[in-house]
Amino acid sequence: MTQENIKQNIKRAPDNERVYVFDTTLRDGEQSPGASMTLEEKLQVAEMLDAMGVDIIEAGFPIASNGDFESVVQVARLVKRAQVCGLARAGAKDIDRAGEAVKHAANPRIHTFIATSPVHMKHKLQMEPDAVMEAVAFSVGHACNYTDNVEWSPEDAIRTDRDFLCATVETAIKAGAKTINIPDTVGYTLPQEYVEIITMLRERVPNIDKAVISTHCHNDLGLAVANSLAGVQAGARQVECTINGIGERAGNAALEEIVMALNVRHDLMPQWTNIETTMLARASKLVSSVTAFPVQYNKAIVGKNAFAHESGIHQDGMLKNNQTYEIMTPESVGISKTSLVMGKHSGRHAFREKIKSLGYELGDNRLQEAFGRFKNLADRKKHVFDDDIIALIDDEIAKGVDTIKLVSLRVEAGSHGPQKANLKLDIDGTMQQVESTGAGPVDAIFNAIKLLFPHHGVLQLYQVQAVTEGTDAQAEVSVRLKEDGKTVTGRGADTDTMVASARAYLSALNKLLVKREKQIPDTIQRGFGSV
Ligand code: KIV
Ligand code: ZN
Repeated sequence: MTQENIKQNIKRAPDNERVYVFDTTLRDGEQSPGASMTLEEKLQVAEMLDAMGVDIIEAGFPIASNGDFESVVQVARLVKRAQVCGLARAGAKDIDRAGEAVKHAANPRIHTFIATSPVHMKHKLQMEPDAVMEAVAFSVGHACNYTDNVEWSPEDAIRTDRDFLCATVETAIKAGAKTINIPDTVGYTLPQEYVEIITMLRERVPNIDKAVISTHCHNDLGLAVANSLAGVQAGARQVECTINGIGERAGNAALEEIVMALNVRHDLMPQWTNIETTMLARASKLVSSVTAFPVQYNKAIVGKNAFAHESGIHQDGMLKNNQTYEIMTPESVGISKTSLVMGKHSGRHAFREKIKSLGYELGDNRLQEAFGRFKNLADRKKHVFDDDIIALIDDEIAKGVDTIKLVSLRVEAGSHGPQKANLKLDIDGTMQQVESTGAGPVDAIFNAIKLLFPHHGVLQLYQVQAVTEGTDAQAEVSVRLKEDGKTVTGRGADTDTMVASARAYLSALNKLLVKREKQIPDTIQRGFGSV
């Protein structure tokens, strides 16, 4: 079946087969160690999720920190279409904080949860099942004071006693929950077992028809997507997932994989989502660059090799008919085939059109800056590809309004040290210059930055990726810094890896300054302790 036929069939699919996509990249995804995003980055991601048709955006865990609270508020204000959800444990304080944060949304939702498995109740919560049951009724009822759109989750549902699970779900629905989420918190279930649990709930919980059942699968056994699809087949009509599958430990179910599985195998699964699939590649790239979590090359749907055909037999088949080895087209997920774009003679108008087609909207000043950098790049690089332009614009957007700007850099490198960096920075309007040495050119650059702008940030990650192929490719560098428990990730792109490194470090440092200014305290508590 062609992609066009699939689209037509999906349009005709009945409403009761509609699967709501609940994206938790900004909450469960952001809980992956090192994946923290700045407020601006969260807003960028939220805007993208909204534009691509995500139904519910879980924007954060408002009680966790003032930063989390603020970002849920801002996402709630920004998002036009999707529901905006805040997470809360079962206590009144958590729920009040979530209610305060999501009240700014056009369509607010509160998601409250408590653990129900024996191991969690005994060791983590130190609560008896009766007390947990009371907390379920109380928390859902309390959340309903803020909105009638309340979701409830029995954390570690898979390892929960089945009778107790049914009883808690019934209680939550009686108290007003409109969505019942069944989390496989530890990524332990198998598709068949997940089907049994959801089928059991549908058969045994008398009021289950008053709520939408949701999947929430972690990927510890590599089964998060398979389990989510099994849940849908058993009757779940909401899937919780993240872009690129980021999340605690091995991550969550990957949004792009669930959506494309439903899309491509519409012949076997009549369920459908409202996701604009041509935005999947862009969303993946955005989340990867703001978190500095690279997407593995062979990752389904959005990996660099997902549509690459290397072997002669495959290439031959593809040339004859692309359906020989392609079950979906790269275009259907937003990867364009003709990515060779423009050269140094391309004008401003063509550049504007190009970035529009890549899904960006830039104001006049930013456009002018980006165009200048494009010209500069085209002078140094023979072929400028879409990926080059994306890296350049992401870099431009990430710069924001920086206090510290790179003016110039000269580096001495080679087999005989000492490696040196001569660096000039514009620090809040004042030009400052220094020369420094280091154990290698990158170390020399970072030392020079520290001399010009002393700070306590500790380097946690330094990562280089080539944007395209060839020795004239741009390097995209990510730098993660941690200072007083605050973590920020900066990135920079340039054909000169040393310049890209300096840009990435400065980008992280500028973000750190913003965090300092806003006095965003550290996370009060991550993880889900007792209520
Ligand atoms: O994995 C989990 O159990 C969660 C809950 C908060 C839904 O993320
Ligand atoms: Zn989770």
